[in-house]
Amino acid sequence: MPVDQAIADGLNAQLGRELAAHLQYLSIAAYFDAEALPQLAAFFDAQAQEEHDHALRFLGYIRDVGARVSIPALAPPQATFESAEDAVGLSLSSEQAVTGFINGLATMAVEQRDHATQAFLQWFVTEQVEEVSTMSDLLAVVQRAGATNLLLVEDYVARGDSGEGAATAE
Ligand code: FEO
Repeated sequence: MPVDQAIADGLNAQLGRELAAHLQYLSIAAYFDAEALPQLAAFFDAQAQEEHDHALRFLGYIRDVGARVSIPALAPPQATFESAEDAVGLSLSSEQAVTGFINGLATMAVEQRDHATQAFLQWFVTEQVEEVSTMSDLLAVVQRAGATNLLLVEDYVARGDSGEGAATAE
């Protein structure tokens, strides 16, 4: 049974946001690589891969329900950053925004009594809790370390304390 058109539009919009997040994290990884902070670069490379996987989940679901795949135009990712705090702060605010969009889609699916889409979105509802928590913790560590002690952040990420660091990247 095809999904409601408003839900199909919402799923395609979220597919675009996941692809945009993929590009934004690649851009942040490149920034940290240029700053000679390889653990942070690897952490954001892994985040970029996760976002690509999220995009493919949406793509696959849209196809499975027989809706039309319509990938939106993507704005270019932010390419320059003032500081590590700036880059990680952008990541946290992006994850918080994505959480809002996922919750909005889930509410729409409830209102439409679209059980399949509700079930599909549950994985993302749970995932967003982890993503926001991971990025919030990383921002706190970056702020505590300060601009001159980013090697402490490298240690934090290398130990896997960030939850999804280079040491534990899937
Ligand atoms: Fe796919 Fe980080 O949200």
